[in-house]
Amino acid sequence: MTMRIVLLGPPGSGKGTQAALLKERLGVVHISTGDLLRTAVAEGTELGKQAKAAMDAGELVSDDLMLGLIEEKLGQPEVAPGFILDGYPRNQAQAEALDKLLDRLGQPIDRALELVVDEEQIVKRLATRAEEEGRSDDTEEVVRNRLAVYREQTAPISDHYDNKGLLVRVDGIGEIEEINQRLAAALS
Ligand code: AP5
Ligand code: MG
Repeated sequence: MTMRIVLLGPPGSGKGTQAALLKERLGVVHISTGDLLRTAVAEGTELGKQAKAAMDAGELVSDDLMLGLIEEKLGQPEVAPGFILDGYPRNQAQAEALDKLLDRLGQPIDRALELVVDEEQIVKRLATRAEEEGRSDDTEEVVRNRLAVYREQTAPISDHYDNKGLLVRVDGIGEIEEINQRLAAALS
């Protein structure tokens, strides 16, 4: 069964962690725009050069660049069994652009899952990751801005999916495997 999922949730809510487990469970492709952008930055591609400043500040990269990236990914044959979109869409314009694109491809979203995690827990998780991995946007100041951007631009798009009857909110606190069970249950 094909399954096309949008995974929503604030920075550090576990989108990447959970998508990696879900993709195995469902046999679908995991598309993380943040991972794609970090690879582009590391490789020094044109996209990476254009995205870097916004990423380092915890701001959103331009909608045009993001749509180009997502169009390219969703046009590939390996997404036929389905996909988990992690980190896209991130504002109302992106949500509408994605609807149009998926309409054109005849591949509508089946479910939007939102991981619910409070900000105190997020700040703790990302402070730990900053020490362990040194991701350049995990500094305290940039995390604060990522959270503000999420609140102002990304959180409202849950309504976009709720209005379509596609949204399920899932408690994102607890053991990783336990949360994955909750997500799987929300898909069935
Ligand atoms: P992106 O890479 O998407 O970052 P993010 O949304 O800020 O989220 P993270 O990747 O930090 O967290 P996550 O929810 O994936 O959680 P994770 O599993 O890692 O975006 C980065 C930047 O790219 C943006 O700021 C923007 O500039 C740009 N960008 C990307 N997409 C864009 C778009 N569409 N438009 C414009 N710009 C875009 O977990 C976090 C940590 O917690 C990890 O250390 C993990 O090990 C730990 N953890 C996970 N689960 C648990 C648990 N249950 N208990 C305890 N710890 C846990
Ligand atoms: Mg991530």
